Amino acid sequence: MSYLFPNYGRIPLEIVSGEGTNVFDDRGNRYLDFTSGIGVCNLGHRPVQVKSAVDHQLEKVWHTSNLFESSIQEDVAQLLCQNSGGDAVFFCNSGAEANEAAIKLARKFKKKHRMISFQQSFHGRTMATLSATGQKKVRDGFEPLVENFEYFPFNDIDAITQLTGDDIGAIIIEVIQGEGGVIPANQAFLKAVEKKCKELDALLIVDEVQTGIGRTGVPFAFMHYDIKPDIITVAKGLGSGFPVGAMIGSEKLIGCFSAGTHGSTFGGNPVCMSAARATLNVVFTPSFLIEVNRKSELIMNKLDQLNKLSLVKSVRGKGLMIGIELKLEAKEVLADLRKKGLLVLPAGPKVIRLLPPLTIKESEIEEGLSLITKTLEEKETIQSV
Ligand SMILES: Cc1ncc(COP(=O)(O)O)c(C=O)c1O
Repeated sequence: MSYLFPNYGRIPLEIVSGEGTNVFDDRGNRYLDFTSGIGVCNLGHRPVQVKSAVDHQLEKVWHTSNLFESSIQEDVAQLLCQNSGGDAVFFCNSGAEANEAAIKLARKFKKKHRMISFQQSFHGRTMATLSATGQKKVRDGFEPLVENFEYFPFNDIDAITQLTGDDIGAIIIEVIQGEGGVIPANQAFLKAVEKKCKELDALLIVDEVQTGIGRTGVPFAFMHYDIKPDIITVAKGLGSGFPVGAMIGSEKLIGCFSAGTHGSTFGGNPVCMSAARATLNVVFTPSFLIEVNRKSELIMNKLDQLNKLSLVKSVRGKGLMIGIELKLEAKEVLADLRKKGLLVLPAGPKVIRLLPPLTIKESEIEEGLSLITKTLEEKETIQSV
């Protein structure tokens, strides 16, 4: 008997402790965690820098409300702006709330009702963000949706080039679609999206909830591409496990979110901010990001060997956000890996998604990848019999 709504398809495994890339279940079994709590624990489990910052904050004050000034919010906002090219930040508690804020800000600023997003995209579970999401299964049953969202094919330059209308307020996009299957955008496509925003006088909102905070080897994944968003949304990795989201906006938008227009009781909570400040001080250090890229190269080189297996369709991604597309259901492989002590994620029905902590050690990369290779080789043998 459970007192929880069954809205999650839960795996029969309870993680009771974690350190670095390792987690342990209630029977003492160890697992190598290549999920990071879905791209959240970017510095691994219980990183010492974040723990000591949070411990320190817990001794001072836990909550004050946004009726008062907050120098710790200012610190985190400065780190986010200086590393993204943005000019102002609104803090909230999740990725959906960051996107909700972006949608509201775009509506209020542009006063135009149509918004464009992309097929297979994922932007959250609130009414506006599920309406922006380009996956039918996420929207089904929740109609009537927030109106005027349209879903364009991802990486289709022709389709976006043909978009017209002086009633379009914004285009929202993940530069690497995460939940949709780890699908990186093409450079030319993103340039076409940016150009279209300029042509239509619409805002470009980049959803970096999964790709931001160093995950792809740069502070924000849009930096792999030669584009400049008007709004960037982040969450997941920002608080190392403490719930925090943020919307970063460009200068022209600042006046639009004047006092009383938008808010959140817990947004910018000092304990979460202490976790975020400590996290960013590590992740945005150039030497840290160089290491992420080195590890990414190591993993990609090793995964390249998987392409020889006939059940592997492709290996793709950037930094430490990696997808292995299979010709069979990913959940079969996930269960086998779990039995061998490795936790990985699905992304759609046929993609295995790897989001290991950015702090992963080389020995852990070796261990995890050899388990993946072994498991896929076993599957290949069974299939060919
Ligand atoms: C790209 C993207 N946007 C938004 C969200 C929603 O974030 P949250 O679950 O924190 O509301 C997610 C969550 O997976 C995401 O991957």
